[in-house]
This record gives sequence, structure tokens and C-alpha cells, in this order.
Amino acid sequence: MHYHAAMDLSRFPRRRYTPFATPLEFLPNFSRALAASCPGGRGPRIWIKRDDMLGLFPGGNKTRKLEFLVADALAQGADTLVTCGAPQSNHCRITLAAAVKEGLKCRFVIEERVPGSYDVDASGNNFMFRLMGVEKINVVPGGSNMAAEMQKMADEVVREGRKAYIIPGGGSNAIGGLGYVACAQELQQQLFEQGVAIDRVVVGSGSSGTHGGMVAGFLGNNIRIPITGIGVSRDLADQQPLVLKEAQAVLDLLGVAIKVKPEDVQCVGGYWQPKYSVPNARMVEAVQMLARTEGIPLDPVYTGKIMAGLIGMAREGALKPDENVLFLHTGGLPSLHAYESVVLGDGKDLPA
Ligand SMILES: Cc1ncc(COP(=O)(O)O)c(C=O)c1O
Repeated sequence: MHYHAAMDLSRFPRRRYTPFATPLEFLPNFSRALAASCPGGRGPRIWIKRDDMLGLFPGGNKTRKLEFLVADALAQGADTLVTCGAPQSNHCRITLAAAVKEGLKCRFVIEERVPGSYDVDASGNNFMFRLMGVEKINVVPGGSNMAAEMQKMADEVVREGRKAYIIPGGGSNAIGGLGYVACAQELQQQLFEQGVAIDRVVVGSGSSGTHGGMVAGFLGNNIRIPITGIGVSRDLADQQPLVLKEAQAVLDLLGVAIKVKPEDVQCVGGYWQPKYSVPNARMVEAVQMLARTEGIPLDPVYTGKIMAGLIGMAREGALKPDENVLFLHTGGLPSLHAYESVVLGDGKDLPA
């Protein structure tokens, strides 16, 4: 007898931070503008899933992961969340928002990947760290062992007679990845209800919980739409193994007997350079194009570069004319305010 294992998320504790499905919408003006810039004036039809509208302050992909991670922390009796990120970390900001909502304390280890880039008075996410009352921030140099730094911070919490729960960078472990299995299931239901046939999904690929969780969710739910992950800090050779490992960990946690294959994990590099979080001209074009055709903001560190990847693939013909392509908007808007003059510029003084 063959037993087909389904993906049952209801076995896992979950807090609810978004009381609705994020909108799935067609982008007519953006699709038209993109087509006009493609060879022959024809391009793909672009759809968007608005995960920038998820709950918490303001939402983004981390909200979905934290629904499962914070529920696990609460189940273990933790009173303090410890996590890590870059100086303008969306993940740290949303983790802090979840902590505040749940009556927990929250501490960060901030990795200064670009030397000298951490400024206590910076705007964007940094400002929100202070506004929402982060309990403590340790700043460490780029390349530090973040797991060891977070363990040190958690030990300190324990010495103070409290109980810490460590959330890895980006909330990307097997439990966090469940959030994007939930997203895959939500999307499947929306595609069915709206009668939409999507040919490809484009997502960002960083700490890999989003891309890996979606791959796991698509495989486990038999959703046969290819997913392309645009790297925000790594090219294919470095990113693909991370995403594959994350997708497999999520499937294993769910007890689904599927082995992820390298061909299930498509990664595209070349759009994040010159460096993680450092602006480039194609990011500026993408941010301006979506804002000025649809009134939807993207962020300079992640979604601006991810959309630049989608635009680049359309112009190269890797996304075909009249294909329906879904862009997953993963949020990140607060850091837009830390780069206002850059995204209003013409990008001419920036690397391509
Ligand atoms: C706005 C935004 N988009 C995309 C990503 C990348 O997602 P992941 O870390 O799950 O790969 C992040 C992660 O920090 C993010 O903040």
C-alpha cells in the first residue's frame, strides 16, 4: 500500500499575526511598462503577492516565520528572544515587534557586515529598534560566529535568572520555514479561488527560509510551478546548497518523505552586487518603476534587487512574453527611509 504523506501544519504550535490572506493581485501598469522595455515590446504578465502587508510592525516575510518560532518559544517557557541581523535588519525589527506583542523581552547581536555601518541614531529599522524598546544590542564585526555570539547573549540572560530562546538569522531554520509552507498553501487556495494559472514564482533568497519553505511547500502540496530565487547576498553555487538544506529540513520536520533535488532549487545571482545591502543602479530602476506604475514601494536591500532580477530575466527572455509570473513581495520597507536620496536619484553614480 502506498501512503501519501500530506503536509499537516496543524500539529505545530502557531501564533496568528495576520488575520487574512495577503492579497494576490495582477500588476497591469507595471506589466505594460516592463513589456515596453523588453525586446519586441512584449513581456510577461506580472502578478504580486503582498507579503509586505503581513501583520506586526510593519509586516514582511519574517512575520510568517515568527508565527511558528514565537509559538515554540512560548511553549518552552522562554521570556526573552535573542536573535541577530545586519544593522538595518528587518528580521530583528519584526522579531522585536512580536516580542512586544507577546510580553517578551528581546535582544540582538548586530553584525556590521559593512565596517562602520552601524549607527545608533540611524533611521529606518534602527530607529524602530529603539522605538519598540529593544533591551540590549551587541554589535560585532562582519564575519563573526553569530551562533556563538547569540549563545553568549543567551547565557547572559540565563545568568540573570531568565529563559532565552535563540532565533537564528532571518528566522531560517526548519520551524521558521513552516511559515512559508503556510504561504504556499495559502497561495494554492488563492490561485484556485481566483482561477489564475501562474507559470513561475519569483522570490528572494537570502537566509533561505522563504525560498526553502516555498520549495518544501510546493513539493509537499504537489504544486508544479517552478520557483526562481533571486540571491540577495550570494550567487547560485553558494546559495543553492543553503536553500536545498532548508527545504529538506522543513520536509523532514513535517515527516514528508520527499528528497529535494538540486533541480528543485533554482537560484539566480548577479543582481545583489557589488555587496549585500549596497545599492546598485538596477535596484534604483526597479524601486522607481514599481512605485511609479503601481504605487507599491520596494526596499533597497532586498525586494528592489529581487525585482531587478525579475526585470532582467524578462529582458533576457528567461521569462517569456505572456507568461504569468508571480513576484512575492517580502517587505522591508523601513530601510527605504535610510536610503531616500539613493532611490530618488538616477543611479548613474552607482555600480550597475
Ligand atoms: C524584505 C526581505 N526580503 C527578503 C528577505 C530574504 O528572505 P530569507 O532570509 O528568508 O531568504 C529578507 C531577509 O532578511 C527580507 O528582509
